[in-house]
Amino acid sequence: MNSIADIVKNNATFPEESPLVRAYLDVVRDTVCGLSLRTQEQSVETDLKHIRPLNIDKRMKGLDWPRFGITMVGFHRLNNIEWTLRFVINNGVPGDFIECGVWRGGSSIFARAILKALNIKDRHVWVADSFQGLPKARTSNDVDDWSKQEYLKVSLDEVQTNFRSFNLLDNQVHFCKGYFVDSLPHCNVSQIAVLRMDGDMYESTMDQLFNLYAKVQIGGVIIVDDYNIPECHRAIHDFRGWHGISEDIQVVSGDHSQRRATTETQLVEIHIFVLARIILVDILK
Ligand SMILES: C[S@@+](CC[C@H](N)C(=O)[O-])C[C@H]1O[C@@H](n2cnc3c(N)ncnc32)[C@H](O)[C@@H]1O
Repeated sequence: MNSIADIVKNNATFPEESPLVRAYLDVVRDTVCGLSLRTQEQSVETDLKHIRPLNIDKRMKGLDWPRFGITMVGFHRLNNIEWTLRFVINNGVPGDFIECGVWRGGSSIFARAILKALNIKDRHVWVADSFQGLPKARTSNDVDDWSKQEYLKVSLDEVQTNFRSFNLLDNQVHFCKGYFVDSLPHCNVSQIAVLRMDGDMYESTMDQLFNLYAKVQIGGVIIVDDYNIPECHRAIHDFRGWHGISEDIQVVSGDHSQRRATTETQLVEIHIFVLARIILVDILK
C-alpha cells in the first residue's frame, strides 16, 4: 500500500479510471479554485483594499485569496483531497468526509464531486462552519484579528447555492452550522474516514479535535490545512501531547520549517494517520 506522502510525491494519476471521471473532476477542481476562469480571476489582498491580477502560481499553491473562486485551497491541496479520499476508499476505511471551516464551500463541493464520480453512495460529506466567519478569541491562545475579517464570512445560503450550482446539493451532503464549540458536539456524523481541518485558530483546531478525533476511524486521515499557523500548530501538538498520540504526521505540501502565516510562505498541509484509539478528556472547560 502506498502512503499518502508517496502518492502525493509521485503526483498520483489513476490509470485505471475512466477518462470521463478524470475530465469531470479536473473541471470541478479547476472551477472551484478559480483556475478555469483565469482570465477573470483576481486575487484579493488580505487588507481587502487591493485587488491584483491572478497569479496562477499562487492560486495553484493556494497562497492567495481568490476573488471569485469558491475555495482558497489551491490546485495542489484539492488534489490532496482527491488522493486522500481515494486512499480511504481503496483501503476500505469506513466513514465520511467532513470539512470544518469551509468558507465558500469549494473544497467540500469537490469532495462531494469525487464521491459522485466514483459512484460512492454510502459515504457522506459533512460541511461544518459558523457561516459567519471566525469567532472572537475566547482564550489567550488566540488573537482577535480573525473575527473582524469580513471576507471570511460566508452564509449557509451562499454555500448551499454554490453546491447547487454544481448540482451537488443532495442527501449525501449535511451541514453543521454554528461555532464548532457549540455545533460539533451535536453533529450527527458517526464515522469519519477523512477529517479536513481548516479553522485557522487554536480554539477552532482544538474544538475539532476534541469533538471529532474519536470518530476518525482507524486508518483514517486527518488533513490539517493550517499547520503553518502557530496557533493551529500549537493546538495539534498540545492535543497529541495530552493524549499520547504518536501516529505519523506526514507533511504533504509546503515547507515544514516555516510556520508563519504569511501569503509569501508556502502553506503546509499535514496528514495525521489515525492508528489507535485514545481517551479524550475535556481540555477547554
Ligand atoms: C480559511 S477559511 C476555510 C477555507 C476553506 N476550507 C476553503 O476551502 O476555502 C476558515 C473558515 O473557518 C470557519 N471557522 C473558523 N473557526 C471556526 C469556529 N470556531 N467555528 C465555526 N467556524 C469556524 C470560518 O467561518 C471560515 O469559513
